[in-house]
Amino acid sequence: MEEWLKKIEEAINLEEIEKIRVAIFGKKGILAKEFAKLRELPNDVKPKVAKELNELKDKLNKVLAKKREELEKKELENELKKDAIDVSLYSPFNNKGALHPVQYTLDRIIEYFISMNFSIETGPLVEEDFYNFEALNLPKYHPARDMQDTFYFKDEKLLRTHTSPVQIRTMLKQEPPIRMISPGAVFRRDFDLTHTPMFHQVEGLLVDKKGKVSFANLKFILSDFLHFMFGDVDIRYRPSFFPFTEPSAEVDISCIFCKGKGCRVCSQTGWLEVLGCGMVDPNVFKAVGYENVSGYAFGLGIERFAMLIHKIPDLRSLFEGDLRLLEQFR
Ligand code: DAH
Repeated sequence: MEEWLKKIEEAINLEEIEKIRVAIFGKKGILAKEFAKLRELPNDVKPKVAKELNELKDKLNKVLAKKREELEKKELENELKKDAIDVSLYSPFNNKGALHPVQYTLDRIIEYFISMNFSIETGPLVEEDFYNFEALNLPKYHPARDMQDTFYFKDEKLLRTHTSPVQIRTMLKQEPPIRMISPGAVFRRDFDLTHTPMFHQVEGLLVDKKGKVSFANLKFILSDFLHFMFGDVDIRYRPSFFPFTEPSAEVDISCIFCKGKGCRVCSQTGWLEVLGCGMVDPNVFKAVGYENVSGYAFGLGIERFAMLIHKIPDLRSLFEGDLRLLEQFR
């Protein structure tokens, strides 16, 4: 008995343990032999010896199981050690990823407006005429609809041409005050050096009690935002027209390429147009059932911002999936 316990204790791998197990518990093992001897014993000692034998069997069993568990664990550890990967090892491959310029630009835009307590809202890409046009003060057959070359489906459905419909969806869902931006893909039937059929916009909307929101507030936030995005640039607001705002303006920054002197990118004007904005038109508030409120809205194209920030000359290169473009932004 002692001898077997010692053998088990000294076993160094699972193979040895298995040999010991067979020698003890196998058909021809020592326990089988001992039990066989029982038959020859006188009846009065038989139960006592049998009991001892059974206890011995239990004990050996337990010790063996414990040792096997230990060895299994050890072998697994060894196995894992063998396969370990040294993450600190130097690698000649430098395949670090890079953020796509559009994603990088959007992240910056979101960073700014989150810091100004705006929420992020989203809406469907397949939109209804009501949200994309009607509620934005663009009734059917209004000539301003031609400003946006729309992809139409059947049943009043279309691919949204701008992110402005999310204004409407948010106002219908929520009570004022509202401070939101809505980034996302938009679609227009257009394709040349500066237009792709899919691009991205960010819409912004702020609504509060009547009299609490002024054009000065709008100018402040947009100028602050443009300085955050483009650094030290001059900014000007030009009167313009959008059906969903009145008054409306377009916002220019001084050309970041020629510093306002005039170059090919800014068509010799010294200015780059980057934003549309204005005070929300009363008809838009009427469409969503808001009363006694005032607000401002703005919209911008993310690709345009990305091209200016990264000095990318051709809009289409943003969507060609050419890794050589991305590799420049690691
Ligand atoms: N939706 C306009 C467009 O796609 C952009 C825009 C201009 C949005 C002025 C606005 C705004 O909210 O006030 O061209």
